[in-house]
Formats: sequence, C-alpha cells, structure tokens
Amino acid sequence: MLERDIERVFYSEEQIDKRTAELGEELSEKYADQVPLMVGLLKGSVPFMANLIKQMTCHLEVDFMDVSSYHGGTESSGKIDIQKDLTMSVKDRHVIIVEDIIDSGRTLAAVSELIKQRGAKSLEIVTLLDKKEGRVVEIEADYIGFDCPNEFVVGYGLDYAEKYRQLPYVGVLKPEIYSE
Ligand code: PRP
Repeated sequence: MLERDIERVFYSEEQIDKRTAELGEELSEKYADQVPLMVGLLKGSVPFMANLIKQMTCHLEVDFMDVSSYHGGTESSGKIDIQKDLTMSVKDRHVIIVEDIIDSGRTLAAVSELIKQRGAKSLEIVTLLDKKEGRVVEIEADYIGFDCPNEFVVGYGLDYAEKYRQLPYVGVLKPEIYSE
C-alpha cells in the first residue's frame, strides 16, 4: 500500500544490506579489542542500528538519545532539542554515533560536542546516508553508507510527518503526497 506513494527508490533493501555488512565488518575490525558504545539517535536510526549491530562481531553496547532538528516539516530548523538523554555514561568510552542521515549537520555537531564534553575516550560517526549538499555546519561522518541526493527521502527510518519509516528501502515520495 505504501509502495504507491513512492516515486523512486534510491537504495534498495539489498543494496542497504550489502553496504551495512561492509560497514559492520570494518567497524568490527577497528573495534576488535574495544567494547564500543553505539549511540543511536532516535527515531530515524533504529532500522540502521538494528541491521548494523547484527553485522558486528566485536563486543558492543547500545544506547539511544532522542534529539530533533526537524519539526514536522521538510526543512531543518536549526534548533536542537534533547528529548531523551542517554542512560549510560560515555566517560572514557569509545563512542560510535549511529545516524540515518546527515543533512545540515546541526544535529550531529551538537551531539558530538556534548559527547566529547562528557569525556568520551574516542568518538566516531557512522551514517547510512550523507546529504552533503544540505550541509550548513562543518561535520563529516567517519563511515558513510551512501551519498544522498539533495531530495527529501523517506524509508529505512526516515520519515515524512512521522510516516514511512518502516519502508525497507530509501526512496522519494510522489509530489502529491506532500500537498495532501
Ligand atoms: C533527522 C535525522 C538526523 C537529523 C539530520 O532527525 O534522523 O538526526 O534529522 O538533520 P541535520 O543534519 O540537518 O541536523 P529528526 O530530528 O527528524 O528526528 P527523527 O530521527 O525522529 O526523524
């Protein structure tokens, strides 16, 4: 049913699975002797986090934070609200932030700064999608799944007005969906 609202698929489930497995292998090698704390930013990172950790063979721990930079629309507001903080301490931990997308970079810049201030031993960022053209703040991920076209994408955790997160692929909606 949701399929009818999709104009185009950018990254299929198969492509995402393959790339996630590669990233999982890379991270597992790098963190083989560590126990990284994987920090997912809710809600968009959930499907990617679930997939990624299943591909990792080193010990790891998982925690989540809920921060938001978009407020129901399609434009970044530049305002960051922390709605749910981590339950674990990042002090002296090797932290890996897991994101679905970096757009303006405001969310990650703010969260990275916070995690550093709290005394993390190291910090890296892994993102499924990197929308480089959206960047307002200078920040880059250490591991990138795919480059993201400069369009409003949904699926694999990414929403439009909270919907479409469950799609197993990343795509763009038909224009009429936004005008409804
Ligand atoms: C989205 C996305 C990133 C952020 C990227 O989260 O998951 O966290 O925006 O945008 P930025 O680089 O311009 O800051 P959102 O705040 O929409 O919350 P959600 O994950 O619950 O959809």
